[in-house]
Amino acid sequence: MACLSPSQLQKFQEDGFLVLEGFLSADECAAMQQRIGEMVADMDVPLHCRTEFSTQQEEQLRAQGSTDYFLSSGDKIRFFFEKGVFDEKGNFLVPPEKSINKIGHALHAHDPVFKSVTHSPKQPHLGGEVSPHQDASFLYTEPLGRVLGMWIALEDATLGNGCLWFIPGSHTSGVSRRMIRAPAGSAPGTSFLGSEPVWDNGLFVPTPVPRGALVLIHGEVVHKSEPNLSEGSRHAYTFHLMEAAGTVWSPENWLQPTAELPFPALYT
Ligand code: FE2
Repeated sequence: MACLSPSQLQKFQEDGFLVLEGFLSADECAAMQQRIGEMVADMDVPLHCRTEFSTQQEEQLRAQGSTDYFLSSGDKIRFFFEKGVFDEKGNFLVPPEKSINKIGHALHAHDPVFKSVTHSPKQPHLGGEVSPHQDASFLYTEPLGRVLGMWIALEDATLGNGCLWFIPGSHTSGVSRRMIRAPAGSAPGTSFLGSEPVWDNGLFVPTPVPRGALVLIHGEVVHKSEPNLSEGSRHAYTFHLMEAAGTVWSPENWLQPTAELPFPALYT
């Protein structure tokens, strides 16, 4: 397995993120995109489960937290949608392949193409706006362990189609908020402890990357995506590695391992 060079490691430690181009080949990206296309063509989402995905705090509480569709998706393949893609009856207003924000959260367990690339909680992001956040807000361990996001561009991620933006060096000031599960059966299903600071937009640096690039994301670095304003998609495959040694996975996290699908260990 390739290792980071000392200068790459230093850059990651300074910035809280690092781009590694050429992580996947064009063929590997194409195979994953083809599989996404097949899944979207075959998707059958009940009307009441047409959940729109957003990390806007209010939206999240309403659209995700209030629905079991999201909270029980940790060991399943489910579809989450962009805003405004359904009419009030849940019918598609846009072609279904252009409606999806992400597919999650257990492709690694159930789909052979994605299984062959990785093996831990993950989802393809199909492009779209994601408001400023730290990944550790959603993947919390006690004490706070390291979380590493792996974000792989399956096609070129550009300024116009929703590439990642980072605040370099923002990974050193702790976790500003945590999303926690509410007691079973209560609504909404999740809430936040603390709040995301209002970040100065001028602090964010865009990070366009070519197809096949891997972006390493420190669990506490503040990052976002702008809306995809292009005509095309911006497929990415993302998953997270969490430090298990010496930590306890918070029972308050929305994502919980199940007996059928425990978190796979990277090292055994
Ligand atoms: Fe993220």
